[in-house]
Amino acid sequence: MCGIIGYTGTTQNVGDVLLTGLSGLEYRGYDSAGLAVSNGSLSVHKREGDVSGLETALSDRSLSGNAGIGHTRWSTHGPPSDTNAHPHTDCDGTVAVVHNGIIENYQSLRTELEEEGHTLESETDTEVIPHLIERALTTGAGHDEAFRRAIDRLEGSYAVAAVFTGDEAVYATRNESPLVLGVGSDGYYLASDVPAFIEYTDNVVYLADGEFVRINPSGFVVTDEQGVIVDTAVETVDWDPEDAGKSGHEHYMLKEIYEQPTAIRKCLRERVSEMEESITVEELSDLGTLERDGPVQFVACGTSFHAALYGARLLREQGIHAQCFRASEYAAESVPIHSGTVVIGVTQSGETADTMSALRTANKAGASTVTVTNVVGSSAARECDHVMYIRAGPEIGVAATKTFASQQVALTLLTSALTGSASLDTIKRLRTLPDQLQRVLDESTAREIAMEYVDADSYFFIGRGYNAPVALEGALKMKEITYKHAEGFAGGELKHGPLALVTEASPVFAMATGENHVEKMLGNINEVEARGAPVVAVTDSPATLSQYADHVLEVPDAGPRLTSVLANVQLQLVSYWVANELGRSIDKPRHLAKSVTVE
Ligand code: F6R
Repeated sequence: MCGIIGYTGTTQNVGDVLLTGLSGLEYRGYDSAGLAVSNGSLSVHKREGDVSGLETALSDRSLSGNAGIGHTRWSTHGPPSDTNAHPHTDCDGTVAVVHNGIIENYQSLRTELEEEGHTLESETDTEVIPHLIERALTTGAGHDEAFRRAIDRLEGSYAVAAVFTGDEAVYATRNESPLVLGVGSDGYYLASDVPAFIEYTDNVVYLADGEFVRINPSGFVVTDEQGVIVDTAVETVDWDPEDAGKSGHEHYMLKEIYEQPTAIRKCLRERVSEMEESITVEELSDLGTLERDGPVQFVACGTSFHAALYGARLLREQGIHAQCFRASEYAAESVPIHSGTVVIGVTQSGETADTMSALRTANKAGASTVTVTNVVGSSAARECDHVMYIRAGPEIGVAATKTFASQQVALTLLTSALTGSASLDTIKRLRTLPDQLQRVLDESTAREIAMEYVDADSYFFIGRGYNAPVALEGALKMKEITYKHAEGFAGGELKHGPLALVTEASPVFAMATGENHVEKMLGNINEVEARGAPVVAVTDSPATLSQYADHVLEVPDAGPRLTSVLANVQLQLVSYWVANELGRSIDKPRHLAKSVTVE
């Protein structure tokens, strides 16, 4: 977690660039923020609290200079505090450092440095880095050499950036944590993610693990661990700066919910051909067709795990032996992996430590690895044998919304492409889906229903078949942004225990879509109604369900698989409006971060 930024240039106010960049990175952590500017000496400002707090604290200062770094934190070592906030400096304030990741050997480095007389003030793992740099400087090393020597001592994951007093350059490197270089016409940017500088440039270089970069106002140089210059490709990202703003919505989450029709259209573009009755995922073409008996294993966390459950079900329907594992448990489960195994990591960010660790385990064991991700150049995209992009565009709200819908659609495409099972029916349904989704957004009565149940004690979500993962997702969204108790179950599971929790104060959201499931769901609805629980049916059969449920949230029929994409949108809206009414911090829920880079 954590977001880092660096900037060097002569035309912009460095403080403004850093603060803007940190706002674009806040989804990565927001318990403290800080920056350092090099302007002859080093000015370091840092404090507990979010970026807007730092901005207010600095409002009457002019932060001029040609180089600077910034950080927004999600605590791992040491609680949020002014002292633990980054940047961290050496004893005499010659160098300031920001870091995203975990330094695993920091304790032994700290002891070593303290024995040499260094005083470390914070409880963070990061603070050893400026002191290691200082040690190298005192032996006569220049800035570049001192930075490299310090990095050479680190074990763990890191994206690190440093500025020195009297130097217009920013020095940075990465290992298993993201770092992107932005190449602007009037300056150079370094950041954990593109939204930090998209307002200034869309030309980027995705840096690889082990690469070092030095930027100064006149250029950039990328080198490998030995200091040899690396040829880099400058790519253009197809994001609009507007994509990273709120476009008039009160929260990123709501904006992103409303972006789902566009996100799905982008995911489908050039992959679906009605004329040829085919679905092609160009990026996966060298994977060939999946063998019926060759196992496919999904690994993922959180919302992406729910999408993976959906994907595994799609593949099983085509006769593929597909299983789904929580990435954090994958290694511990002793899952048999062999050279014919295909392991698919579903990860929006492409950086989730648990998912990366599972993918690395699979890679080592000889499996063929695939990632379905949103972030170009992410660790998952770099390390897996095959990458399929979901093309949802930047998602800033910590709660995943549009990326889940895009994952569901991407996994539908992946299934058709890898099993050769594309049918005209699936193609037509996929093509119609964005318009159907727009209809749900335009006509939803989720807000009124949310108001009705804003004081509920608990919320339950139930669904069968393809709606079962959506029930889990509906509950996760509700707890994440409202801080209220919520649980999701496969419809048939309620009577095996959870029914004991159902009361008049626990509304049950029951997804009843598709002929196969409506009848059984009616049984489950009766079970909870008999215990006094109010029922909200999410259904494509409103005439039938309105006879049983207290309220109906209608969705169009998108076929047995894709209707669940629409049902989920209704649940996203209910959670959003409950959280909004409760005044929660919707885009940055407490204790959470978007990109979870610790195991
Ligand atoms: C919930 C949410 C998380 C993520 C999980 C995995 O709204 O966003 O549960 O889904 O942390 O993240 P990725 O998809 O980046 O691997």
